[in-house]
Amino acid sequence: MSPPASLNLGYHAKVRRKEKLRWLALLPLYPLLYYGTYFILRGPRPANPQIIAHRGGPAYAPENTLAAFKHALEMHVDWLEMDLHQTKDGTLVVIHDASVDRTTNGSGLVAELTLAQIRALDAGDGEQIPTFEEVLALVQGSGVGLLPELKAAGMERELLRLLEAAEYTQRTVVQSFSAQRLETLQTLAPEIQVCRLYGVEMLNLPQPESARYLAPPATAVLLNPWQIRQAHTADRRIFVWFGGLEHPLIMRWLLALGVDGLMINDPSALAEILD
Ligand code: G3P
Ligand code: CA
Repeated sequence: MSPPASLNLGYHAKVRRKEKLRWLALLPLYPLLYYGTYFILRGPRPANPQIIAHRGGPAYAPENTLAAFKHALEMHVDWLEMDLHQTKDGTLVVIHDASVDRTTNGSGLVAELTLAQIRALDAGDGEQIPTFEEVLALVQGSGVGLLPELKAAGMERELLRLLEAAEYTQRTVVQSFSAQRLETLQTLAPEIQVCRLYGVEMLNLPQPESARYLAPPATAVLLNPWQIRQAHTADRRIFVWFGGLEHPLIMRWLLALGVDGLMINDPSALAEILD
């Protein structure tokens, strides 16, 4: 005589639950398998990962100011990262936001203020918003790399003019989230090196022919380290930027994965790790 149908159902439910639990117990193994395979196949790691002072290193001085850049130079960082906007009267100035509200004691859009108005503002600790020309004067002879980011349209010609006048084109890599701005720049000056920035959503980096440098956020690299391998195979470099994940453990992990440089607010933390 066969058991009642309800007993049979109970038995099958138990078996299914057991199977599910077995798969769940294996969950911790998946990342191990994923990263383990990557580590086996990742190829050689860069011998000299680059320290990039993001916005000059706001851990020590107000962001994007000469004080920050001077401090970063004293720390012998490899690169200075900075953001560019253009004043109403056409000067390239170093500031992250389109408006001066967050980082100064003033208000208004950079594009609607003259250089004189911009210079009257306090960018923190009595610092002024620097012009890009001042940064170029500061870095003369230092050999430090420059990573200026085009934060607005229409600055390409003026940027190239300043770089050429300062003879700093070869130590500069211009960054942008906009492929079009980088294309314009390279049409004007094919020899200029560019770095394509990507947002958090970009897990698989499109690799534009012209960009020797790619800059994804840390999260994208952590989730898909294979893009490092792909970039290296195509002779490209990966400079990672952070969006709040700047922790020594994450830095160590990114270095182990093989990134070429880290844009960080606290360059000394990375210097310690590399030491
Ligand atoms: O340029 C890399 C990184 O700086 C991009 O983010 O907002 O700090 O300019 P953001
Ligand atoms: Ca930037």
